[in-house]
Amino acid sequence: MAEAFEPKKIIVTGGAGFIGSNFVHWVVDNQPGVHVTVLDALTYAGNRANLDGIPEERMTFVHGDICDAPLVDELFAHADAVVHFAAESHNDNSIADPAPFVRTNVEGTFTLLEAARKHKVRFHHISTDEVYGDLALDDPAKFTEDTPYHPSSPYSSTKASSDLLVRAWYRTYGVRATISNCSNNYGPRQHIEKFIPRQITNILCGIRPKLYGDGKNVRDWIHTEDHSSAVWEILTRGRIGETYLIGANGERGNIDVLRAILAGMGKGADDFDWVRDRPGHDRRYAIDATKLRTELGWVPKHTDFAEGLAQTIEWYRANPEWWQGAKEATEAKYAAQGQ
Ligand code: NAD
Ligand code: DAU
Repeated sequence: MAEAFEPKKIIVTGGAGFIGSNFVHWVVDNQPGVHVTVLDALTYAGNRANLDGIPEERMTFVHGDICDAPLVDELFAHADAVVHFAAESHNDNSIADPAPFVRTNVEGTFTLLEAARKHKVRFHHISTDEVYGDLALDDPAKFTEDTPYHPSSPYSSTKASSDLLVRAWYRTYGVRATISNCSNNYGPRQHIEKFIPRQITNILCGIRPKLYGDGKNVRDWIHTEDHSSAVWEILTRGRIGETYLIGANGERGNIDVLRAILAGMGKGADDFDWVRDRPGHDRRYAIDATKLRTELGWVPKHTDFAEGLAQTIEWYRANPEWWQGAKEATEAKYAAQGQ
């Protein structure tokens, strides 16, 4: 039987990033009795404007680093729970410079766990399906909670490391922790370095989209709002010490996703460039979310990918001021890598 937990004061780390900000909006919209404290360092990926519109009485924003132990300690003294999204999140960046990934993803998670241990704060750790490595294109298998860890990139290995820290702090110190490993998210406010928004904003800028390798790599897409609802179910009703995979049966080849974007934006099917592959590029991810669905009864709402993609394209079209400032530098970084 899942433990019932009704947090009133939660800390959301990384709440100014893509998924974290979508989660904060989801909580404010759906959980009226909950106050959120966002702890975010506002790196290149964080944007305070992502939290615009949230009433002051519902949220406190703290500009700070998850590796800052005294700050974290002070915040945890007044919280029931933490939902830990903050991370360096982009594989290509981790290949170019892994150091910030080790610091934030490993040392940062350690810092938060120590505070959770001291103040007995419930800990929900946000992780990724990438900790399991990859599957072959023709393999009928999907990842489950029992799949062995086999990360490929500096990013995914630091996320795997952080998962292992959480498991150890649960087992050794009794920290009340859960972990969720989710597949690829899409939706509004995703940084334009990521695949879908990069291609959308390329087209909006008159730049040809860029496809890595042979374009056959498969990702399992889920709308970020469905990720948020799943996290809430796990935080409030999940069993302590357990891992839950989050996915919505959204497997798609990269070239198919790109062609859907091209068609949705009035471009031809071949209006893109093939570019250098990512070193160590994972072939396929696929999630079996049976545990989450059967144990907690979670179901995704955004099951129509074409509709979700059209809304996402529209969001980037309608909000150029949100992304234009980062476009030139993002593309310059890719160009330097031959991508
Ligand atoms: P993001 O890069 O958009 O946002 C990360 C946020 O963390 C930013 O607001 C940034 O300022 C903040 N941050 C980074 N370092 C920090 C530090 N040292 N202290 C405090 N804040 C810091 O990331 P995202 O795509 O929203 O991913 C959020 C979480 O979800 C990550 O843990 C990621 O591993 C996980 N995840 C992402 C996906 C995906 O598809 N994007 C899928 C599964 C899991
Ligand atoms: O699976 C969950 C993971 O999904 C998260 O843990 C990561 O934080 C998140 O960034 C994402 O990782 P990916 O590496 O799968 O996402 P990305 O958007 O970088 O790339 C998606 C796919 O598209 C991947 O196969 C690489 C490819 N790609 C990417 C870019 C940026 C291209 O073909 N062209 C591109 O320009």
